[in-house]
Amino acid sequence: MKTLALSSLLACLLAGTAMADTLRVGTSADFPPWESVNEAGDVIGFDRDVIDEVCKRIEAECNVANQAFDGLLPALQVGKFDMVISGMSITEERAEQVDFSNAYAEPPYRFAVAAGSDLAKTEKREDLEAALEGKVIGVQTGSTHEAVVRAHLPKSEPRLYERNEQIADDLNAGRIDAGLLEQSVWEQLMEAREGQLSLTGPLLSSADYAEFGNGTAIAMRKGSDDLKKRVDEAVASMLADGKIAELSNKWFGYDLSYKAK
Ligand code: ARG
Repeated sequence: MKTLALSSLLACLLAGTAMADTLRVGTSADFPPWESVNEAGDVIGFDRDVIDEVCKRIEAECNVANQAFDGLLPALQVGKFDMVISGMSITEERAEQVDFSNAYAEPPYRFAVAAGSDLAKTEKREDLEAALEGKVIGVQTGSTHEAVVRAHLPKSEPRLYERNEQIADDLNAGRIDAGLLEQSVWEQLMEAREGQLSLTGPLLSSADYAEFGNGTAIAMRKGSDDLKKRVDEAVASMLADGKIAELSNKWFGYDLSYKAK
């Protein structure tokens, strides 16, 4: 009797979950045009559109919440979120803590400096690395950019920021010498600060610095195997049918879709 009641309860629960999940999604909305907060207080951007489409394809209801980047994976691990989408790159270190979906995007990276800085017209990576010795480089706390500066620019001083806009502001104010970010984010931050910042050095990728990781993906708690399977399928279908390319063109003006290697 007892067993029967329990097993039918379990069946209902399982059916219920499959029908209408409500999933909580975390993001750090300081990273335009990937994610930012509009005047109405909503999280908008490329990742917002990507996760909305993923949720549609897995038939789930998703609520997106904004919180500081370095707190995203801890919050995912303790169950505050079910997924994290935040321009987050797949790295070995993170993959020990959480599971990643298939990568959906792969952006290039770039250093930026104040316009008119001596570093502004450096072309080669090696020259820029040498010129950055003894200089202060702004990076977001817990980002792959922080890892790159620590590993490859040991003679520079990383300065840690909670929010990426603060890096652009401090560059403008002359409080730091350089910053490291996705080129797509600089482009957006620079638009609002016309003529104040300048990109420098070459486009960078994980071929230059492995710490950048391998593509951008959605993070999930370890053990959420059913969710991961559904999200992986959704991402694969969105890459295959051009949805990711369409959203990328909408937000960046070019295609950052992940290309299988
Ligand atoms: N791709 C970098 C990383 O994974 C930076 C991501 C920052 N994202 C954000 N929403 N602030 O560490």
